[in-house]
Amino acid sequence: MLQFHYFGHACFLLDDGKYKVLVDPYFTGNPVATAEPEAIECDYILLSHAHQDHLGDAPAIAKRTGAVVIGVPEVLQLCVQQEGGIQVHGMNLGGSQQLPFGKIRMTLALHSSGVPGGIACGYVIQMGGINVYFAGDTALFGDMKLIGHKDPLDYALLPIGDNYTMGLEDAAVAAQWLNVRHVIPIHYNTWPVISQEVERYKELTETMSRAEVHIVKPGEVLELVK
Ligand code: NI
Ligand code: MN
Repeated sequence: MLQFHYFGHACFLLDDGKYKVLVDPYFTGNPVATAEPEAIECDYILLSHAHQDHLGDAPAIAKRTGAVVIGVPEVLQLCVQQEGGIQVHGMNLGGSQQLPFGKIRMTLALHSSGVPGGIACGYVIQMGGINVYFAGDTALFGDMKLIGHKDPLDYALLPIGDNYTMGLEDAAVAAQWLNVRHVIPIHYNTWPVISQEVERYKELTETMSRAEVHIVKPGEVLELVK
């Protein structure tokens, strides 16, 4: 069993009933956030890059909960500067790690990192018997064809907002190249500059790929299925 709790933008939590993995915890200042950062419990926090709409409340939540923050070293260094005494685990592109909740692999993303020397990333998260690909902030890139090759993907969380990341058309191509079974669009409608007609994305993607698109609203929980 694996639950996807969506808090808006690129912020979500995966819960297998035993472990909670929080991703890109942008609560403070997030106009669509549906929870207070003080109310979040988690064991691990995964970060895709250091832009404030992704790194967000990670240092404060890690400090309060004792959660281990995972990211590239440059991003983690920024977290430690904000909150001393937090637990971090550095990784880099292409690396995998077995953790108590499952296995994660850090994947490349085509985006700026928000910190000198850093690099933006995505993750393949194997948890509760389900393979979830979180693309992070990214442009469409050809190597997406390889991401699902190693671990066939059940779910992909793809940015569709355009302007800063892929837009509708490119994110539909991404679903096709990833050969994924389910897609959850994220990183849209947070601000006017990334407003999108998500129904159009669903129609386009389901025409172009084998993926079923699940539109999850901020505050909603989706039970992920194999
Ligand atoms: Ni960004
Ligand atoms: Mn972003």
